[in-house]
Amino acid sequence: MKSFVALSVILLATSASSSTTSIPLAKLQGTGAYLKGSPDAGRARAAFLRRRTDNANTVPATYKGYPSYVTKVGIGNPPTYYNLIVDTASANTFCGTGTPYVRTSTSAPTNENVHVNHEGGSFTGQEYTDQVTLAPNLVIAKQSIGDVNSSAGLDLTDGTLGLGPRDLTLGTLSPDSYVTIPTVMNNLVLHGHIQNEIFGIYFAPPSSNDDTSEYLDGALTYGGTNSSLYKGNLTWVPVTKTLPTSRYWGVDVTLCTYGNHTVIPTKTAGIVDTSTTLVLLADNFFSIYKNAIQGASMDPNTGLLEIPRSSIKHMRPLNFTLADRVFSLDVAAQLFPADQNTAWGGVPEKRYGTVGPFFGKNSVVEDLDFVLGMKFLERYYSAFDADGNRVGFAQTNHTFSTYEG
Ligand SMILES: *[C@@H]1O[C@H](CO)[C@@H](O)[C@H](O)[C@H]1NC(C)=O
Ligand SMILES: *[C@@H]1O[C@H](CO)[C@@H](O)[C@H](O)[C@H]1NC(C)=O
Ligand SMILES: *[C@@H]1O[C@H](CO)[C@@H](O)[C@H](O)[C@H]1NC(C)=O
Ligand SMILES: *[C@@H]1O[C@H](CO)[C@@H](O)[C@H](O)[C@H]1NC(C)=O
Ligand SMILES: *[C@@H]1O[C@H](CO)[C@@H](O)[C@H](O)[C@H]1NC(C)=O
Ligand SMILES: *[C@@H]1O[C@H](CO)[C@@H](O)[C@H](O)[C@H]1NC(C)=O
Repeated sequence: MKSFVALSVILLATSASSSTTSIPLAKLQGTGAYLKGSPDAGRARAAFLRRRTDNANTVPATYKGYPSYVTKVGIGNPPTYYNLIVDTASANTFCGTGTPYVRTSTSAPTNENVHVNHEGGSFTGQEYTDQVTLAPNLVIAKQSIGDVNSSAGLDLTDGTLGLGPRDLTLGTLSPDSYVTIPTVMNNLVLHGHIQNEIFGIYFAPPSSNDDTSEYLDGALTYGGTNSSLYKGNLTWVPVTKTLPTSRYWGVDVTLCTYGNHTVIPTKTAGIVDTSTTLVLLADNFFSIYKNAIQGASMDPNTGLLEIPRSSIKHMRPLNFTLADRVFSLDVAAQLFPADQNTAWGGVPEKRYGTVGPFFGKNSVVEDLDFVLGMKFLERYYSAFDADGNRVGFAQTNHTFSTYEG
């Protein structure tokens, strides 16, 4: 399968005196066949995350063909650089699924096996500690990492950088299945590289398939946020108390509207996930949205909402209320750029939506009822604060944009 990873190697800030470090992210670009599977993979992932219980011996992993955001992480000394998916819904960091793990004198086996299970199969490997280089000034001497020896389904990337809460690693090791693994964020704080256990995410949406106008594809900031990448102040949203969503970076939406239709009427929990492509809504919520767009229907070929071009001019903003503030996805944010249609397996005459259903899953009282994925995070800067147990959002230059009819 042909694929390529567009990587930017510019380092934005390496000043040892600054308390935060921003590093560029690259969009992982798969070919059409990969893209085509990803809406369904996203739904399978959401279904899996919902089912996870406290004692499950599995953590969610990323699926085949995610068009994701990746960061270059060095492992070993001298480091070998791997393209790792930035994942806020898992906490294990592992490599070996693309570029094989290159062991150096700093690579130490822990005599633990690591098992990462997901909808499409499971990944198994050995857990090591090794030197991990996130940026020249962010070098963790002994970070626990997995060397995954089964590459099924993950051949586009080399592995995952787990930015989710540490408890998600519970049950992934054996024989020590009762221990959790310190994440890269835990270790950055423990070793004094950053003061605050906060990271910030900036994703820039492509306005077209060949868009090279944006200087940055994205940026990941360790230790805080980078206020030059967003406008105004962050709105902080407490992590939800609703299980199972509270195990992740989960938040409560108190209202969601589409034009004058109420899509989500009451307080409902969902996750903020950097590696789900779409914005996903529980089926009953999604039906309200879909039925409000004339002629819209699910397209089995792409797994995406297909919207007649004639309906676009009647489309309305999809507004989420979080912590009493409205975060709006304008019409452009609800549509894939038209020239990406064929890449996603669609036809040129139609438009395809960035909002999708779970399939077979209505909202129930205690649950995980929406996913704010990449298509949301490409419009709002996000910040993940483990100390304050909260997620922040702020507007960017991409929050509102014009759309092509
Ligand atoms: C924040 O991002 C800007 C724009 O990309 C960059 O120039 C700057 O160095 C970053 N700041 C920090 C503290 O990393
Ligand atoms: C992968 O790692 C597991 C756990 O250590 C081991 O049982 C298995 O034999 C390994 N498979 C291969 C192909 O090396
Ligand atoms: C946002 O737009 C303003 C005005 O055009 C510009 O000065 C600023 O650099 C832009 N910010 C980013 C992160 O691109
Ligand atoms: C951001 O917060 C600061 C301090 O709370 C306040 O002074 C400022 O007015 C706020 N800015 C905006 C744009 O809301
Ligand atoms: C909903 O909005 C549409 C226009 O967007 C308007 O025509 C219609 O009257 C509104 N319905 C209600 C119940 O307000
Ligand atoms: C949705 O958000 C947009 C942009 O902030 C705003 O103009 C519109 O009035 C909001 N609609 C509703 C129903 O809240």
